[in-house]
Amino acid sequence: MPRSYPTGEKPTDPHLAKGYEVYREGCMGCHDSGAAQAPVLTNSDEWRERIDKGKETLYRHAIDGYHGNSGFCPPKGGSPGSWSDDEVRAAVDYIMFTLARAVTPEE
Ligand code: HEC
Repeated sequence: MPRSYPTGEKPTDPHLAKGYEVYREGCMGCHDSGAAQAPVLTNSDEWRERIDKGKETLYRHAIDGYHGNSGFCPPKGGSPGSWSDDEVRAAVDYIMFTLARAVTPEE
């Protein structure tokens, strides 16, 4: 069963906090709701096979864009001028951080 974790909290780690900001501006439009068939952030089942590809692949797909079996992830969320590669990597790290907590809720 997928578990959910509330995504509104800003992490205290500065790298993840940056990723959280990028995520909220550029990624959550699709990844919170599943718009455009995007994998939903809090649904760990939808991410399991993606995580298995390894972080480097996920970084590259978020930076360069990715056409998969369910849809299209635009390069840097569709705003290529807004963030550096590192900032987009931070957004992916934030997604992974949140997913890890979705799998093992802190309670
Ligand atoms: C317009 C909607 C949209 C936006 C905005 C968007 N994504 Fe996506 N994203 C998708 C879709 C759709 C997929 C699934 C593609 C597939 O597997 O067919 C996806 C997949 C991904 C994946 C998994 C790639 C893989 O190899 O399985 C990552 C990581 C990701 N997005 C990160 C991001 C980040 C980071 C942002 C913000 C900078 C972002 N996305 C913004 C639609 C979006």
